[in-house]
Amino acid sequence: MFKLAPSILAADFMKLGEQIQQVEEAGADELHIDVMDGVFVPSISFGMPVISSIRKGSRMFFDVHLMITEPIRYIDEFVKAGADGITVHAEACSDLAETVKKVKEAGLRVGVSIKPATPITVLEEVEPYLDRVLVMTVEPGFGGQKLMPECVEKVKELAAHRKLVSGTYDIQVDGGIGLSNLREVMEAGAEVFVAGTAVFRGDIAQNVRAFKEEAGVAD
Ligand code: DX5
Ligand code: ZN
Repeated sequence: MFKLAPSILAADFMKLGEQIQQVEEAGADELHIDVMDGVFVPSISFGMPVISSIRKGSRMFFDVHLMITEPIRYIDEFVKAGADGITVHAEACSDLAETVKKVKEAGLRVGVSIKPATPITVLEEVEPYLDRVLVMTVEPGFGGQKLMPECVEKVKELAAHRKLVSGTYDIQVDGGIGLSNLREVMEAGAEVFVAGTAVFRGDIAQNVRAFKEEAGVAD
């Protein structure tokens, strides 16, 4: 399985609707939406009003990555805004199991993300309920950073563990993903690839096609 999820954090917000259409038409699989609260991560991005606006113009799967403290407080609102999947950070939840349950009960796909220093063991209690695990390949908070090689090792570790427990969740990576490291991260076991800068800088449609070619799934 290979899925490309362009991150709109790197889009030109003056042309947001147009650029979302471009990635969709070029064959991207999901739209990755980074919500940052200035507390869990240093930066602030955007929230519900932006998501409900773009929802009206797109049928893509909205993959909402919540980099916010105690996301359980806002699940209902992100559901209302049009999220299809919600990923929360293990480090941001005082009750991870309850948070995962809340997303699941809303009928959405649920993911848990781990920062570079967080071990995969934190997933243990919620693992059977997850649709996705997001292994951050940079420190969350900003686009345009360089992938941390040790995180690729963690992807390998998670893929091996998933096999052992016959897990059914997908493995997503986010941060510094580009054509130069795509194959390596695929081989490590990742299936869903977030890319901000590498998709939105330059010719968007051409970038999406290049990703699909590199992954061996071009039509
Ligand atoms: C970082 C965000 C990423 C970011 C990726 O905290 O979660 O989704 O937009 O951007 P690039 O692909 O530029 O590293
Ligand atoms: Zn993200």
